[in-house]
Amino acid sequence: MQAAILGDGPFGRAVADALAAHGVAVRVAGRPATGAHDRGTFAGVDVVVDASRGDAVLANVAAAVGGGVRRFAIATTAWDADRHDVADLLRARGAAAVAASNFSPGALVFARLVEMAARQAARLPGYEPYVVEWHRHGKVDRPSGTARDLARRIIAADPARDRVSSPTGGPAQPGALEVVAVRAGTNPGRHLVGFDGPGETIELTLTARDRSACAAGVVAATDWLLAEPRPAGLHSFEAVLDVGDRTEVTAAS
Ligand SMILES: NC(=O)c1ccc[n+]([C@@H]2O[C@H](COP(=O)([O-])OP(=O)(O)OC[C@H]3O[C@@H](n4cnc5c(N)ncnc54)[C@H](OP(=O)(O)O)[C@@H]3O)[C@@H](O)[C@H]2O)c1
Repeated sequence: MQAAILGDGPFGRAVADALAAHGVAVRVAGRPATGAHDRGTFAGVDVVVDASRGDAVLANVAAAVGGGVRRFAIATTAWDADRHDVADLLRARGAAAVAASNFSPGALVFARLVEMAARQAARLPGYEPYVVEWHRHGKVDRPSGTARDLARRIIAADPARDRVSSPTGGPAQPGALEVVAVRAGTNPGRHLVGFDGPGETIELTLTARDRSACAAGVVAATDWLLAEPRPAGLHSFEAVLDVGDRTEVTAAS
């Protein structure tokens, strides 16, 4: 089995180590000097993992399908603007991709807990949600893809919120969900979702101690893609790891 990792940053290297430990032959490619990866990058490659930059995803997927690749795990964040084009390209070429802003198994459970808490807090008077995330100094995008996904889920669950706060300063705006990003040091990723209510605060936290949980999730996604042919197009990480349906999560609370 051969994998190509597009992206030679800390996460691409963590995924490469995890796949190699899983018995997969791995090659890692960074930003191509010519602006696009050539066909040779994909010779004999069964699956491509994208861990590059948001603005590179569409071109990377296009180069890889052109090179014959039909299986992708897209871990890169901040490519929302190209999502439709990537999905169309995958479908047109009969290729399947698992895409997630956070491949950690814990992030799946965390997202479900946040949805449930947001739904319930929205029914109480005066409980206001907020999201804070911390990442290393050098992270390119903010807020993180995980924070944006959590914000989307909170807004969907809370009729009083319709948008994320804009970073222009001034007082909090009614209807805007406060989302704050901190960039400092070497933090591999921490997400906190809070609900500030009268006389009390509820806080839920997901803390990555290193990149291993996300890398393990990418390995699970590549296994899922290689196990059998998957329908062409984009798949969520929830298709790979079954943590129970939403009714079970709600009933167990
Ligand atoms: N889904 C998850 O679970 C998860 C977990 C961790 C990180 N991530 C995401 O994964 C991505 C990579 O993370 P990171 O921390 O390693 O980021 P990073 O430090 O920014 O590294 C990205 C690397 O990719 C290179 N690159 C740029 N364009 C490329 C291209 N077309 N093909 C191949 N490589 C290219 C960059 O080179 P230049 O410096 O020259 O641009 C850089 O070396 C980010 O989007 C991050 O948010 C996702």
